[in-house]
Amino acid sequence: MLDQALDEIKTSPNLPALQDLRVKYLGKKGLVTEQLKGLGSLEPEARKLAGQEINKLKTVINDAIDAKKAELELNALNEKLEKESLDVTLPGRHYSPGGLHLLTQVINKLSDVFRSMGYDVEVGPELEDEWHNFDALNTPGWHPARDLQDTFWTTDGRVMRTHTSPMQVRYMETHKPPFKIVVPGKVYRNEALDATHEAQFHQLEALVVGERVTLADLKGAINQMAIALMGKGTKTRLQPSYFPFVEPGAEFAIWWTHPRTGKEEWLELGGCGMVHPNVFKAVGYENVTGFAFGFGIERLAMVSYGIPDIRYFYQSDMRVLEQFRGVL
Ligand code: PHE
Repeated sequence: MLDQALDEIKTSPNLPALQDLRVKYLGKKGLVTEQLKGLGSLEPEARKLAGQEINKLKTVINDAIDAKKAELELNALNEKLEKESLDVTLPGRHYSPGGLHLLTQVINKLSDVFRSMGYDVEVGPELEDEWHNFDALNTPGWHPARDLQDTFWTTDGRVMRTHTSPMQVRYMETHKPPFKIVVPGKVYRNEALDATHEAQFHQLEALVVGERVTLADLKGAINQMAIALMGKGTKTRLQPSYFPFVEPGAEFAIWWTHPRTGKEEWLELGGCGMVHPNVFKAVGYENVTGFAFGFGIERLAMVSYGIPDIRYFYQSDMRVLEQFRGVL
């Protein structure tokens, strides 16, 4: 019986099987235990000898089982360690960090530039009423300038703002001069789409109002912005132009070195002028003067970074967007 028992124990495949063997041999009704029960019928001397034999057998089997148990447990532990081991030589997984859209970066940079010049940064609604977008800006319904800014209307007569200039009016309605503000934001126009025209784009508006604000201040502010954007030595130019809500009005350009061609040239950026008296009248201001200017942010970003098509800004194409991760 011993040989058979030891053989079974040695080949026992796992802990439950080993436990079964313990029961089979040493349990209450186990084979070894049964032998002990037979002792009672023997003579005292023989009983003593047989008893010693059986006890020895019991000890040997028990030790064998304990040894096998330790072995199986060690194997199980090794397997577990094997399975859970870390291969520290595996290359790490790459998580692409998010990034700000190029337009957001440009807007943030412009906001910083103007904050450093003492301006407050304000934002306003994209869905406007006709009064703020047109009438209060000296552009009544019959005015031909309205045709230049065809846009989207809601059925209740409101309008997706065609420029950030309505915020001039909104701000003046709720604040007293003097002040200096800039307003970045999205604007809308009903355009035939092409590489330089989108139905939505961004502008930055500036408005400065006080007791003795002059055209020289306007020129100075545009100069300062140009220097902050393009560096020392940058020149700016005003050319007479017409916008209903300024008088006199001008287009402004910045003298810059084109980042790709390396050529120096005028970059026409936006419109500007002295706030028209009718605009002050519309908001109830008296005895003040002011200047305003506004320009397209996409255009500035396109020429700065060599982006050939304005539609790239809104297509969420990672191949485009990733090129401008953290450029500013
Ligand atoms: N709002 C004008 C536009 O969208 C730009 C402008 C702003 C012109 C302020 C003059 C003064 O074209």
